[in-house]
Amino acid sequence: MLILGVESSCDETALALVKDGKKVLASLIASQTDIHAKWGGVIPEIAAREHLVAIREMYQQLLRETSTNPQHIDAIAVTQGPGLIGCLLVGASFAKGLSQSSGKPLIPVNHVHAHVHGALLGIDVPFDQIFPTLALVVSGGHTNLYYMRSPIEFELLAHTIDDACGESFDKVGKMMGLPYPGGPHVETLARSGKPGLVPMPRMMERKNQLLLSYSGLKTAVSHALRDMEKNHYRKEDVAHAFQEEALGQIVRKLAAARTIRPDSKSVIVAGGVASNTRFRALIAGQFSLPAYFPPLKYCSDNGAMIAAMAYYQGQASLSPGWDVYSRYPFERFLAKDL
Ligand code: KG4
Ligand code: ZN
Repeated sequence: MLILGVESSCDETALALVKDGKKVLASLIASQTDIHAKWGGVIPEIAAREHLVAIREMYQQLLRETSTNPQHIDAIAVTQGPGLIGCLLVGASFAKGLSQSSGKPLIPVNHVHAHVHGALLGIDVPFDQIFPTLALVVSGGHTNLYYMRSPIEFELLAHTIDDACGESFDKVGKMMGLPYPGGPHVETLARSGKPGLVPMPRMMERKNQLLLSYSGLKTAVSHALRDMEKNHYRKEDVAHAFQEEALGQIVRKLAAARTIRPDSKSVIVAGGVASNTRFRALIAGQFSLPAYFPPLKYCSDNGAMIAAMAYYQGQASLSPGWDVYSRYPFERFLAKDL
C-alpha cells in the first residue's frame, strides 16, 4: 500500500511516499530554519506563507523522483495537529484537494504520535519483539513518554508541565547568544564543558513521580551565566550542566516508567532532541532494553513518519479525526492508573 505523507505543522514543508508503512520511496523536506533564524524563533504567519510557496512544486518533484503515477497512490495522510493553525491549513487543504480529486482516502494523523514512527521506519525487527514499548517523543513542542502496546496505542505516562525539552535547549541557546534553533549548538558547546563545575537543580525530584519540568532549569542557567566570572567557569561548563539535567531528568522518568510497566520490551526515542548524541548514549548506557532511535533525517519533522503512522491507522480502521483547536489532547491519552 502506497501512502503519501504530508507534513506542514511548523517550519518544515515535508512530503514522502512510503510503501506498507516501512519502505520510504522518497522523503522531501524543505526547512525554513534559515528564514526564521533572524527572528530567533518561528513566525507563524511567515511559516504558513512559505508552505504555500513550497508545497505544490515539492509534490511534483516527489512524483518525478519516484516515477510515481498519482493514480497509484492508495491514500493521502496529513498532519491534523498539533501545530500552528495557518501552517496546518496549508497541508490539510492540499491533502484534502488531492483526496477529493483522486477519490483516495484521506487519513488525518497526530503529529506527536507520528514522531515515534520516525524511529520505526526501516527497522527489520518484528513488532512483537518491540511492543509493548516505552516511547519518548522529545521535540521543540512536546516531551511525552508513552507506553505503547502496538504502533497505534498511545498511553501517556509522563509529560512536561511547562516548557518542552527542545524548547528549553532553544531558550538556553538564545541566552547564550547561539543561533536558532539552539539545541544542536548547545550540544556542541556542552561537549567541551567540564562536568561538576556549575550547580543545576534536579528537577521534579519530590513532585509527582512522572511529570517533567524545564522552567526552573532555564532560570538556573540564566543565574549561572550571570555569575560566570565571579565563579570562574565558562559558557561551555554551563551548557554541559544544563544538558546533563535536561536529559538526565528524562532518563530518570524513563526508569520510573519501567517499574510501572515492567513488561516493556524496548525503548523508542523520537523527535528533534533524539538527534542529541549525549541523549542516545545516556539511554543506551542506562537501560538493558533494546533502544531504537530514528536516523537523523527522521528525528525532526518529516512526511515519512506521517505516512507510516497512517498505514497502521488504516490497518486498524482508526481515525483520530480533526482536532480543530490544534493542541495535544493530553486528557484523552493519559494513563488511568497513575
Ligand atoms: O521534532 P522537531 O524537529 O520539531 C518539533 O516538532 O518540535 O524538534 C525540534 C527541536 C528544537 O527545539 C531543536 O533545538 C531540538 O529539537 N534539537 C536538539 C538537537 N537537535 C534538535 N536539541 C538538543 N540537541 C540536539 N542535538
Ligand atoms: Zn515535530
